[in-house]
Amino acid sequence: MKSSNIIRIPALVLFIIAISLLHYLTPLHLHYLHDIFQRLYYLPIILAAIWFGLRGGLACSLAVSFVYAPHILFQWGGHLTLELEKYLEIVLYNIVGAVTGLLSQRERERGVELEKTADGLEHSYKKLQAQSEQILTIEENLRRAEKLSTLGEMAAVLAHEIRNPLGSIRGTAEILRDDYRPGDPKYEFIDIQIKETERLNRVVEDFLRVARPQSTQKVPCSIQAELKTVVMLVANEAKQRQVTLELTESQFAETITGDGEKLRQAFLNIVINALQATPSGGRVIIALHKTKSWIEISFCDSGPGIALENLQRIFEPFFTTKSDGTGLGLAITKKIIEGHGGTLHIESEMGKGTTVVVFLPLLEEGMP
Ligand SMILES: Nc1ncnc2c1ncn2[C@@H]1O[C@H](COP(=O)(O)OP(=O)(O)OP(=O)(O)O)[C@@H](O)[C@H]1O
Ligand SMILES: [Mg+2]
Repeated sequence: MKSSNIIRIPALVLFIIAISLLHYLTPLHLHYLHDIFQRLYYLPIILAAIWFGLRGGLACSLAVSFVYAPHILFQWGGHLTLELEKYLEIVLYNIVGAVTGLLSQRERERGVELEKTADGLEHSYKKLQAQSEQILTIEENLRRAEKLSTLGEMAAVLAHEIRNPLGSIRGTAEILRDDYRPGDPKYEFIDIQIKETERLNRVVEDFLRVARPQSTQKVPCSIQAELKTVVMLVANEAKQRQVTLELTESQFAETITGDGEKLRQAFLNIVINALQATPSGGRVIIALHKTKSWIEISFCDSGPGIALENLQRIFEPFFTTKSDGTGLGLAITKKIIEGHGGTLHIESEMGKGTTVVVFLPLLEEGMP
C-alpha cells in the first residue's frame, strides 16, 4: 500500500463516521442541520473518487449509503416524503461517486500515458543526440583521413625527391673522406655528415615503406623463432633500461605463411615502444597463444599507459610523443600486420600499462 493511502483511507473513514454521528445525535426537529450534514457526505465521496478512481468513489458512496440508511429508516421512518427524498439522495451519492471516480480515473490514465510518451520522447531525443555526436566524430575522422591521405601523397613525392640528392651527398662525402686519415678532425666531420645522411635516408625509407603498398613474400616462417630473435636483439637495451623482458614458453611451434623479416620488424617496433615506455624495474612480457585459426601474440608492458586522446592517433604516421621519435613505428607495424591478413589491437590503462595484441591468421587462405 502506498504511504499516502495509509493516511487517506482512515481520514475518509473518520470523516464518514463524524458526519454519521452528527446525523444520529442531532434531534430531528433541527432538519436544516440534517440537510447540511446530508450534503457533507459528498465531500468524502468526491475525495475518495479523486484519490482512488471509480472503485474508490463507489466503495465510499456505498459505505455512506450503508451507514446513512438506518438513520433514515429508524429515525425518519414516520415522514414518508422526507424519507423518499433522503433515499433519492443515497442514489445521488452513488451516481456522484461513480461518475467522479470514472472521470478522475480517466484523467489519471491519460496522465500516465502522457508521462510514457514524454519518457519515450526523451529517450528518442537522447538517442538522436548520441547518433548526431557519432556522425560528428565520423565526419571529423573522415576529414582527418582525407587530410592525411593528401599530406601522405605529397610527403611521399617529397621523400622520393629527397632520397636522390641524399645519395649524391653521401657518395661525394665518402670520396672526400678518403682524402683524410681517421683521427683527422675533418675526417670526423665528414664521417658525421655521412652518418647523418644515413639517418635521414633511413627516415625517408621508413616513410616510403608506409606510403608504398606492401608486397608480402609468402614463405613458411615460425612466429616463435622471429620473436626469439627480436628478444635477442633488444635484450641488451632491456638490460640497460633495467627492464625485465620475457618471452613466455609456448607449447606449439606453428609456422605461418608470410614474410619473416617484415614480421620481425613489426614485432621489434612494438617491443621497442614497450621498452621505451617502461620505467626501470618494470617488465615487458611477450606471450603467444593459438586458437583454431589464429595466432595471438600479446606484448604487455608495465609502462604509464596511453591517454585516450593519444590512443586514437597512435597509428597515424608521424604521431609521436617522443622528442626523438618519427612516429612511423606503429604505422609501419600496422601495415605489415594487415599485409599478412592480421589485425592489431591496443589496450591501455593509464598508470597500469599497455598491451598490444597482434592476431595473425594460421591458414594460408587468410593471406591477402
Ligand atoms: N607501449 C607503449 N606505451 C606507451 N605509449 C606508447 C606505447 N607504444 C606506443 N606508444 C605511443 O605511441 C606513439 C607512436 O608510436 P610509434 O612507434 O608509432 O612512434 P614513436 O615510437 O614515437 O617513434 P618511432 O617508433 O618512429 O621511434 C609513441 O610516441 C607513444 O606516445
Ligand atoms: Mg616506436
